[in-house]
Amino acid sequence: MKVEPAAALDGHLAVPGDKSISHRALLLGAVSDGETDVRGFGRSADTESTLAAVRALGARVDDDGGDRLTVHGVGLRGLRGGEIDCGNAGTLARLVTGLLAFQDGTFTLSGDESLSARPMERVAGPLRRMGAKIETTDGRLPLTITGAELTAIEYAPEVASAQLKSAVLLAGLGARGRTTVIEQRPTRDHTELLLRDAGVRVIVRPTSVSVDPPERLRLPAVDVPGDFSSAAPFIVAATIVPESRITIHDVNLNPRRTGLLDVLDRMGGRVGVVARRRAGAEQAGDLEVRSAELTATEIGADEVPLLVDELPLFALLAAHARGESRVTGAAELRVKETDRIDAVVDGLRAIGVRAHGLPDGFSVTGVPARPRGGRVDSRGDHRIAMLGAVAGLASREGVEIEDAASVAVSFPGFFDLLGEIAQR
Ligand code: S3P
Repeated sequence: MKVEPAAALDGHLAVPGDKSISHRALLLGAVSDGETDVRGFGRSADTESTLAAVRALGARVDDDGGDRLTVHGVGLRGLRGGEIDCGNAGTLARLVTGLLAFQDGTFTLSGDESLSARPMERVAGPLRRMGAKIETTDGRLPLTITGAELTAIEYAPEVASAQLKSAVLLAGLGARGRTTVIEQRPTRDHTELLLRDAGVRVIVRPTSVSVDPPERLRLPAVDVPGDFSSAAPFIVAATIVPESRITIHDVNLNPRRTGLLDVLDRMGGRVGVVARRRAGAEQAGDLEVRSAELTATEIGADEVPLLVDELPLFALLAAHARGESRVTGAAELRVKETDRIDAVVDGLRAIGVRAHGLPDGFSVTGVPARPRGGRVDSRGDHRIAMLGAVAGLASREGVEIEDAASVAVSFPGFFDLLGEIAQR
């Protein structure tokens, strides 16, 4: 797939429902009593994996193929079944492990080649401390888990990870006592917000979050706003392609997801938030983005969790900004769908940008002019494929993307939408 340069981006668009919330709505709906009506479900290969998983675990889901689903919950301890294929979905693998730790039965989890290379021991370790019976394969998938009696723990993870935090909190739903996760650096809190909606007692302190085991969950409805991480490629594209002006409607604006907006603000970006609304416990709004001249900036460990999935796109902003930008404290990027530090540095160099890898991040020397273009290898990683596409719009000669189809992991309609707003 080749993405040609654009003269400008112009128009209105909406992106699919938030992937993180969609996964959680299905999983929590499955262990609730009664029905959960999910509106704005973000359909993608990843969330289809979770849909198949909750069905394999015994929950009926009414689905007409659109963005509305009804999950018929089986109750907090009602999951049954055997084998779950998590596909490429790290969020599914981590979160469902927490829920299965206290169910009746034995379950196996597998995943595709990329997911099978990602760490699972970071989840299995704390869950074992709670009493869970888990076997990994050299710390990775496939994993076998047999439900057990759990006891609450207080846990301080070594890595800032919402998936890990969520796995422990979800196991805490079935444990004796109050489970606490200590977070030095806040990560996305969709699990906590949805658990509260479901009637669970969630205690949030500045550096920790705790749950008390409930008797039951009831989650009648989940309103899923657009995915900020799917809006991000368009935000970046409209910023770096001159003469652009776009409006992205109904985007999730949870402050633990929108670090890119703060970073853009200090680089000189022009993004306005209008029409703010609540979406259940989440915030949403429309984003108006205009092209801007940027200056370099630095991102450190405290900020990383607030834009962890947008760091590849940040590298492209940096390529267009005057000066040297740098990301540090982001070693987590090495264990995402691919090693995103190597993938970003190789991708940028391949289109004529000066970039260097660091053990825990990267640096980029920017020039306020269009890079040449070239060929970007997505390595099968959806976020790298989208980086390549946006780079193509803002290049002189276009960008050829290797394995562009991987965008379907989070955003199947990505290229169509890009085509609609790109002016040639
Ligand atoms: C996610 C958390 C993040 C993010 C991933 C989705 C989630 O991972 O990268 O795409 O839904 O909880 P970590 O929390 O492991 O950093």
